[in-house]
Amino acid sequence: MINRLQQLEKDALAEINSAVTEEHFLNIKTKYLGRKGLLTGLLRNIAQVPDDEKPMFGKLCNELKNALTVKIDEAVQQYARRNKEELLAKQKIDVTLPGSSIKCGRVHPVLQIRREICSFFSSFGFSIVEGPEIELDYYNFEALNIPKDHPARDMQDTFWTEDGNLLRTHTSCMQIRAMQRMKPPMRLIAPGRVFRYEATDASHENTFYQMEGLMIDRNISVSNLIHFMKTLLREIFKRDVKIRLRPGYFPFVEPGFELDINCLICGGSGCPVCKQSGWVELLPCGLVHPNVLKNVGIDPSEFTGFAFGLGLNRLVMMRYGIDDIRHFLSGDVRFVEQF
Ligand code: DAH
Repeated sequence: MINRLQQLEKDALAEINSAVTEEHFLNIKTKYLGRKGLLTGLLRNIAQVPDDEKPMFGKLCNELKNALTVKIDEAVQQYARRNKEELLAKQKIDVTLPGSSIKCGRVHPVLQIRREICSFFSSFGFSIVEGPEIELDYYNFEALNIPKDHPARDMQDTFWTEDGNLLRTHTSCMQIRAMQRMKPPMRLIAPGRVFRYEATDASHENTFYQMEGLMIDRNISVSNLIHFMKTLLREIFKRDVKIRLRPGYFPFVEPGFELDINCLICGGSGCPVCKQSGWVELLPCGLVHPNVLKNVGIDPSEFTGFAFGLGLNRLVMMRYGIDDIRHFLSGDVRFVEQF
C-alpha cells in the first residue's frame, strides 16, 4: 500500500508539471483529491494495511493530500499570473485613439452669479445671511410696513400654507430678521429662493431667486445707493452700464425706486427684450422706510439705510441674452451645459 501511495504521488506530480490550462489543474485535483479520487480511494482501503502500519499510512496519506492541494493551488496561481503577463506583452495600446469623454457637471448660472455677487459684497464688508423659505406673515409683510388688508399685498401673489404661514414672496423678510439680530451700523446681503402664486410665461416663474441688500448707518443717502449699484453692475457686466432711476412704490422704502439699465441686448435702440423701450427694469430699491426701522427698534432719526432687491434670474437673462425664464428650472442639462 505504501508503494501505491508513493506511485500515486509520482503520477500526480508528473501530471501537475505537464498541465497547461486551468481546466487541467482542476481535473487533476478532482482525479486525486476529490471525493471519489485516487487518494481518497487508497485511504478507504486502509483495512488492507497491517495494523502496526495503519497510523503511519494514515499520516502519509494526509500529508500527501495537503502537499498536493498546496502544489495545485500554487500552480493555478502561477498559471494565471503567467497568462496575464503574456496578455499584457501581446497587447498594444494605440494612444492616438480618441478617448471616451467624461461627463462633467456644471454650476447653474444662477448659482454662478450668486457667488460672484456674494464675493463682490463681501469685499465691501457685507455679511451674507440666509433664512427660511416658509415664512411668517409678520416677516414677509407685517414688519415691512404691509399690514393686513393693505392693497400692496396684492402686488405679490402668495402661496399660503394651511396654518397661515406662507412661502416667502421675496427676500425682503431677511431685512427684518437681520435687523432683529444685529445692531446698526450694519451691511448685509441675503440671497435665496422666493415663490409667487403666478401663471408662468416667458418672463414669469412661480419659483425664482433674489438677493436682498441692506445697509444701515448714519447719513446713508440715495447717493450711497447709486454708487453701490453702479459699481455692482460694472462688476457683473464687465463694463460701465447706463442706469436711470424712476420712482417706484414699495411700502418698505421711502423714497422707492425702480433702477433701470440700458438694454444690453440692443444697446438701447429697442428690441423685444426691452419691449422697444431701450431700458430694462432690473433693480427695485430705496431708502428704508422709518416705520420698518421702528418695527425693529432702530431710531430713524439717528440711522438711515438703503435696501435693494436684485432679481438674480433677470440678471442672468440680461448677461447671456436668455429669452425665457422657464429655462432655469426646466432641468434640461443642455441649458446648464452652455455656461
Ligand atoms: N421685495 C421687492 C419685490 O420682490 C423688491 C424690493 C423693492 C426690494 C425695493 C427692496 C426694495 O429691498 O428696497 O418685489
